[in-house]
Amino acid sequence: MFFADCLNVNDAGHLTIGGADTLALAEAFGTPVYVVDETQVRKNMRAYKRALDTYYGGHGLPLYASKAFSCKEICRIASEEGLGLDVVSAGELYTALQAGFNPEKIYFHGNNKTLFELEYALRERVGQVVVDNITELETLDALAAKTGQKQKILLRIKPGIDAHTHDFIRTGQIDSKFGFALETGEAFAAARRAAQTQSLELVGVHCHIGSQIFETEPFALAAALFLDFLEEVQKQLGLVLPQMNLGGGIGIHYDEDDDALPYAAHCKAIAEVIDTQCAQRGLPRPFLLLEPGRSIPGPAGITLYTVGAVKEIPHVRTYVTVDGGMGDNPRYILYGAKYTILCANRAGDARTQTVTVAGRYCESGDLIQEFTKLQPVAPGDVLAVLATGAYNYSMGMRYNRVPAPPVVMITDGKPRVIIKGETLEDVARLDV
Ligand SMILES: Cc1ncc(COP(=O)(O)O)c(C=O)c1O
Repeated sequence: MFFADCLNVNDAGHLTIGGADTLALAEAFGTPVYVVDETQVRKNMRAYKRALDTYYGGHGLPLYASKAFSCKEICRIASEEGLGLDVVSAGELYTALQAGFNPEKIYFHGNNKTLFELEYALRERVGQVVVDNITELETLDALAAKTGQKQKILLRIKPGIDAHTHDFIRTGQIDSKFGFALETGEAFAAARRAAQTQSLELVGVHCHIGSQIFETEPFALAAALFLDFLEEVQKQLGLVLPQMNLGGGIGIHYDEDDDALPYAAHCKAIAEVIDTQCAQRGLPRPFLLLEPGRSIPGPAGITLYTVGAVKEIPHVRTYVTVDGGMGDNPRYILYGAKYTILCANRAGDARTQTVTVAGRYCESGDLIQEFTKLQPVAPGDVLAVLATGAYNYSMGMRYNRVPAPPVVMITDGKPRVIIKGETLEDVARLDV
């Protein structure tokens, strides 16, 4: 039911995370509060690193996709674990640099990076910029020329794989705002143009085929398509591109219907395809980059709320209202995301009720989950929404001027605040 090693139930029947009692956490930090277990985060990072070491001879690097959850502490942890980092804005880059992250191991993404962001990346000597389009390629070349630097780049390519269809074969997914299309020749033209630039060094290709994917095959297919591309670039342009970045997208358990792929099995399958095909084609094995986001902090995090009113509408549904909602977790209102919810103070009991968990925001769609199983609850109970470590804090919004909750990290059973909660003063701090 819990889908993560860090979650358990103690003798009092309370949910624990990383050994810490969630009721005690709610009491100490108030609710809503995001809680993340450090051990689980590190374990997830190590699983990727170890898999690349084991199955690809260490000739690769996992880059933590910091959009999933960006803050200084997780950047410090990623750095300590030897990972690289994917950032997608000046804000994420600034956070990483403030945390002391080595800029050489940073990959700067984005489909419309601003001039300021490109200049910032150059100034800070970010290792790689992942170029999305020709306008950006030309702009970056001109900016790099002014600084006298040679900037390493990868091309963001849409390989034409829709990983969310059942057969996930190539479906001509060219209708995306991200990157250069492979099948139209746009990607090859971009590689040719990149090779002619003065101040850019084309070192590889990148794709991100989707998120919350449970199969390995679409990634293996992307790798194979990229090898075709690398071969063509080598033959026609005489360029050997040393890096292949297959993006993120590994699915995690949000409920029992999700069948999450072990990270090691995923890496093994991709490595096998690359190894075999490189040997057959006589190509050098590219340095393999993976960009896991959700699968690193996602399962390691939960959100605790306090139940307010419970409204039973006979023959319709029962609303259980909580003291947070779309402001701290906009994923349900955005795209109907699934979650498992428990009553943290009776976590071991059976979930016998079907309820809708609603937030406190002035919006009818402000729900965390509809028609979900839950233990019988009453006002004052604490609810835990599981697997909220990714794309919750980072996607949070300030609607209704509700202060953002704090993020508490559990380290060896002990809590510490890694992001302070906002106060009412913070809410109006930038107003003039
Ligand atoms: C370029 C890129 N890399 C990595 C990721 C992380 O994906 P996930 O969180 O599904 O692993 C994303 C997510 O949107 C992305 O756009």
